Amino acid sequence: MQIIQELTLLKKIIKDVKKDGLSIGFVPTMGFLHEGHLSLMRTAKAENDFMVMSIFVNPLQFGVGEDYEDYPRDLERDEKLARSVGCDLMFLPSAKEMYPAGYATFVKVEKLTERLCGASRPGHFIGVTTVVAKLFNLVSPDRAYFGQKDAQQAFVLRKMVQDLNMDLNLIILPTTRESDGLAMSSRNKYLTFEQRKNSVVIIESLKMAEELADQGVRNVEEIKKAIYEKISKAKDARIDYLEIVDTEKLLPLTEIKGQCLIAAAVKFGKTRLIDNIILEV
Ligand code: PAJ
Repeated sequence: MQIIQELTLLKKIIKDVKKDGLSIGFVPTMGFLHEGHLSLMRTAKAENDFMVMSIFVNPLQFGVGEDYEDYPRDLERDEKLARSVGCDLMFLPSAKEMYPAGYATFVKVEKLTERLCGASRPGHFIGVTTVVAKLFNLVSPDRAYFGQKDAQQAFVLRKMVQDLNMDLNLIILPTTRESDGLAMSSRNKYLTFEQRKNSVVIIESLKMAEELADQGVRNVEEIKKAIYEKISKAKDARIDYLEIVDTEKLLPLTEIKGQCLIAAAVKFGKTRLIDNIILEV
C-alpha cells in the first residue's frame, strides 16, 4: 500500500494507473476508520483493479463551534485497517495543499441542501461538495463509494456528479451497524457509557416508524409524533431534526408514499448522531 500526501505525486501515480488501463475505486473518509468505512473499501476493492482511500478531516465542512479540532484521529490504526482490506493507495492530503492561501473556488448544490443537515449545519454541504469535487479531480475514480448512513450527503454528491457531468459512477452502500443497531460512526467515540446505551433509541424509533408504515399508517405527522415520543423518553436525548421526505428532492411529505427517507439527528449531550432508513410503500 502506498501512502501519499503530496498532490503532484498522487496525480503522477494516478496517471500511471490509468495508463495501465486499471479501473480505480475510491472511498473518501475523514479517518478514525470503523467497519462502516471498511465495508465501503471492501466493495471498492472487489469491484475495481486499484483501490484508493483518502483521509482528510476537511476544515471547510465544519462550522464554528463544531468538532473540527476534536475530531478523532488515529493514523497508525487507520493504516493497519486500510492494509487489512487491501487498499492500494492511501491519500492523506494536508489542509495547506488542499486550500492554499488565496483559495477561492467552491461547489454548491442548491435545494437538496436546504433541509435536514443543511438546515442545522449552515455551510456544511458546500464544504463537502467542494472537497469531494477536488478529491474526484485528483483521484479520477471510475467508481466512488458512499454510505447511506449520510443519506443526504450521498444524494447531494450524486446530484453534483450529474449536474457537473463528472465521469464516474457514484455508488451508495447500506449502513453498517453495531450489534444493537446503532449506526457506526467515528463520533460514537464521544458518547459516555450511559449515552451509548441510550443511543440505540434512534434506530429503534426508526424501526418503529417502519412497522407503523407496514401496518398501514400513512400519515406523516402521526409517525413523526410516535418517533418524537419514543426518543424524548430516552435520557439525555434531544432531537435536532426529524424529517420524512421523498428521496428525489428531499422535500417533506404529508403522506407516506413511494420511496421515502426518514432521517433524524439526535444530540446526546454535545454529541450529534444521525441515522436514517428508506421506506418503500
Ligand atoms: P466520514 O464520516 O469519515 O465517512 C466516510 C464515508 O463512510 C461516507 O461515505 C459515509 O457515509 C460512510 N460511512 C460512515 N459511517 C458509515 C456506516 N455506519 N455505514 C456505512 N457507511 C458509513 O462522510 C465523510 O467522512 C465526509 O463528509 C467526506 C465524504 C469524506 C468528505 O469530507
